[in-house]
Amino acid sequence: MENIWTKLTSKAIEAAQHAYAPYSNLKVGAAGANSNGDIFVGCNIENSSFGLTLCAECSMISQMVLTGSRDLAFVVCLDEYGKLLAPCGRCRQLLAEFGDERCQVLTADGPAPLSYLLPGAFSSADLRKP
Ligand code: THU
Repeated sequence: MENIWTKLTSKAIEAAQHAYAPYSNLKVGAAGANSNGDIFVGCNIENSSFGLTLCAECSMISQMVLTGSRDLAFVVCLDEYGKLLAPCGRCRQLLAEFGDERCQVLTADGPAPLSYLLPGAFSSADLRKP
């Protein structure tokens, strides 16, 4: 079986080709897999008002939830040439909504737990009344 990181890397590069990034010219692709190995992809979609830009991870999570999955196990985020990118702060929080402590993100230093990228994350547990 093909390594999950190899598979997600090629899916993310493919997704990045669809990015709409006329303002930054940074085409980003994201690919994620759930624990069954189902794969979801996304690309960044910019907007002339800049602040409304959707990141690739955001669009990947939309596809994941829309197709009935809520357990994110593996994530890759990169540019159109395959250079790994660190998910931005907002996306780390978006990923943490669906990725538990087992969720791994591919970084330049290898796979790292999502909790390493977003230590001490705010979560649904914080919404519970004491
Ligand atoms: N971008 C992403 O798609 N994901 C990130 O985690 C960081 C930034 C996009 C947003 C924008 O279209 C471009 O990269 C430059 O910031």
